[in-house]
Amino acid sequence: KKIVTIVGARPQFIKVAPVSRELRKSFQEVLVDTGQHYDYKMAGIFFEELKIPKPDYNLGVGSGTHGKQTGEMLSRIEEVLLKEKPDAVLVYGDTNSTIAGALAASKLHIPLFHIEAGLRSYNKKMPEEVNRVLTDHISNLLLAPTDTAIKNLEKEGIVEGLHQVGDVMYDAFLYNLELANRQTSVKNITNGKPYYLATFHRAENTDMKERLEAIFSSLKKLREQVILPLHPRTEKKLKEFGLYDSVMQSPNIKVIEPVSYLEMILLEKDATGIITDSGGVQKEAFFANVPCFTLRDQTEWVETVNSGWNRLVNPILEELHHVIHATNKPNKSEKFYGNGQAAFKISKIIDNFFQR
Ligand code: UD1
Ligand code: UDP
Repeated sequence: KKIVTIVGARPQFIKVAPVSRELRKSFQEVLVDTGQHYDYKMAGIFFEELKIPKPDYNLGVGSGTHGKQTGEMLSRIEEVLLKEKPDAVLVYGDTNSTIAGALAASKLHIPLFHIEAGLRSYNKKMPEEVNRVLTDHISNLLLAPTDTAIKNLEKEGIVEGLHQVGDVMYDAFLYNLELANRQTSVKNITNGKPYYLATFHRAENTDMKERLEAIFSSLKKLREQVILPLHPRTEKKLKEFGLYDSVMQSPNIKVIEPVSYLEMILLEKDATGIITDSGGVQKEAFFANVPCFTLRDQTEWVETVNSGWNRLVNPILEELHHVIHATNKPNKSEKFYGNGQAAFKISKIIDNFFQR
């Protein structure tokens, strides 16, 4: 059986690595990279480091407004699907590459499989929420990471094709942590001193000058150094708002280029705390038993908050540095995201789907 897998953004490269490795034992996989992320540090580095198979198609779509980017992807993915005639299409997460792949498959009546199905923030202003709700409603297999995700889908009346498989990011984390410990060091970044790790890129934080300023003003007041691998979107906005130079000159903020996955998980593991708005990084903080401060009003990863490891902070209404300094590390850790076998389970479920 032939599966066309569609990826395009950084978190999807990390998710596809363990799944692709597993799927290729049983199926023919054709890998399509939409080109949504294209800088070497946002894309190529992950293919090399995580040994992801070379994409069969790179659609080179790049950046643009939501409509233009999604529309270009839709039309180019459709061409690939017409040519490849796959038995199924596999999409990940909630980016514009996800919805474009989902729509293209659905209109051609090709079975659609969605990894990371069922996540909700219930905030329709987030482009990701729209992408994931729509994708879930046209998917034939909904491969959900958590109990919460399954319940969210049931509430929306989706009852067929639901499977709780655990989180493929946990597979990736476990597989690569040992490798990272052996192969990589981040001493050159941290100088061996305690640090907070910060990363953010969401529209709700980057697109409003006031909010971006509030975040950086709090980061400057933290007692420890802050390591900040800067997402290109955040860099662009800092420059646009005239904030870039002052951030670069802040004595305790160390701005660096986006790092590789192995470097990132090492930075996460030894951080005093993690400050982020990234979906993936919230969970990795949890996997690594590091307190997380999420610069959002909602999260899809509610287990991390309910268990005390993650705290939502509105940087306009609260003083982030006070919240951080006042927080103690919880003393127990729980398992909500499976056992690192999500990719294996997904492959079995897909096999059963094809047998039907
Ligand atoms: C996208 C996803 C978001 C995901 C994030 C992961 C959507 C709607 N958003 O957000 O869900 O959390 O990826 O990182 O799909 N840029 C570069 N080089 C690159 C890529 C982007 O310079 O390689 C800059 C461009 O100026 C671009 C901007 O970043 O306009 C935003 O990129 P885009 O892919 O549209 O969205 P992200 O903010 O990265
Ligand atoms: N990541 C990375 N290098 C960085 C920042 C993030 O490898 O400099 C990894 C991170 O460990 C996680 C994933 O990228 O696995 C998260 O991607 P991102 O924050 O871009 O997207 P989101 O998860 O918010 O959709």
